[in-house]
Amino acid sequence: MKKTVKFIELIDKKIEIVRIYINEKRKNHHKIHEVKEKMRKKFEIEYKNNREFEWYSKHMRHSHMFIIIFNLILWFFIFRYFGGKTVTVIIAIIFGSIGVNQVLFSRNLENNVFKPINKLKSAVDEISRGNYGVNIKVNSTKEINSLLNSFNEMAEKLYEGEKLKKAYEENRKLLIANISHDLKTPITSIQGYIETMLEMRDLPQDKINKYYKIIYNNSVYMNKLIEDLFLFSKLDMQKLELNFEKVDVKNFMNDLMEEFKYDMEDRGIKFNYVDELKKDCYINIDCKRVNQIFRNIIGNAVKYSCNNVIKIEVRLYEMKDYLCASIKDNGPGIPGDKLQNIFNRFYKVDYARTKDLMSTGLGLAIAKELMESHGGRIEVSSTQGVGTCFTVMFPRKVEDSDEKNSYN
Ligand SMILES: Nc1ncnc2c1ncn2[C@@H]1O[C@H](COP(=O)(O)OP(=O)(O)OP(=O)(O)O)[C@@H](O)[C@H]1O
Ligand SMILES: [Mg+2]
Repeated sequence: MKKTVKFIELIDKKIEIVRIYINEKRKNHHKIHEVKEKMRKKFEIEYKNNREFEWYSKHMRHSHMFIIIFNLILWFFIFRYFGGKTVTVIIAIIFGSIGVNQVLFSRNLENNVFKPINKLKSAVDEISRGNYGVNIKVNSTKEINSLLNSFNEMAEKLYEGEKLKKAYEENRKLLIANISHDLKTPITSIQGYIETMLEMRDLPQDKINKYYKIIYNNSVYMNKLIEDLFLFSKLDMQKLELNFEKVDVKNFMNDLMEEFKYDMEDRGIKFNYVDELKKDCYINIDCKRVNQIFRNIIGNAVKYSCNNVIKIEVRLYEMKDYLCASIKDNGPGIPGDKLQNIFNRFYKVDYARTKDLMSTGLGLAIAKELMESHGGRIEVSSTQGVGTCFTVMFPRKVEDSDEKNSYN
């Protein structure tokens, strides 16, 4: 029983670790503030670059003096050569045109400045109320247009930031719900069996052994779940360090597939590996992690097969800029509408069937992230009742790496 108590303590510690992971996720929200800050700086720069208003006010200020002097000289000559009557007519014409001009000018000012500024003010009010979906119609002077365009751009970015924040929040809630559910199930089971054993001291030995086995299986499952979560969170936060090595793909795959072949044949599975590469090819990979990707995909092919004779075929070939390895099985296949979800974390196609299979639903999510860290990707195609084919694709470009290993 001491061991059991220690074991429960261990679980407690691991749950604490998961909680730390969730806190780390929460820090991602700062990214949204970074986006907002970038937007603000961009807005400032654009505004500084567009100095139409500044130019006008500067020139107007300096030209006032000249205009007054010019007018005084002009009036002096008109008065001297044409007399008082002419001056009165000219003044009347001038006042008339000033009146017309004033009407036109104020209309122009209202349409091009006051109305857009009022719209801008209402839009800013909307944003301060948390409604980021505002957009102002732009049809004014160049300067005001540029201001409105910058505002629209800023509002759009804020809206996107808000959407991203909501998505993070949703994601976090879902993650917590998934982790709680997936940890709670085995813990409840372990507690239940331990309680039964404590209450019923005279249980037959075979039953006790059976209970121990169940407790052990549940603990193995929890360990796998927590390890997968750790790895996934590191990948998610780009904190996993990969040990890239330049390897000869042919040698690497031959060795890896040989390992699988022995294991599969021991289990009565027909395993076939075909190398279609014409010449030696080198790529930069983290051998341990690539091994892990194949282990999950081939492991899935075995785990989810319901055929009497399980057949798995791995094919190595090149296609344009990629070196590809396809893993094809004769399993039940995956329904088309669920195919795009299988790379999502915690996603399981059939929850009822995967219950006893030690499945966390993290395997393909980890494989996808690992492939992306290698600059590659995973593709999948499947036909129900026929089988599934996963293709892992590595970029062919090899950066110079001093490190060499046994696959060279
Ligand atoms: N070859 C396959 N044939 C049929 N279904 C598959 C196959 N590979 C994956 N799936 C489905 O995709 C789901 C996601 O697979 P994934 O490897 O991510 O998780 P898992 O196998 O359930 O758990 P884990 O790999 O963490 O133990 C599986 O639950 C299964 O339903
Ligand atoms: Mg799996």
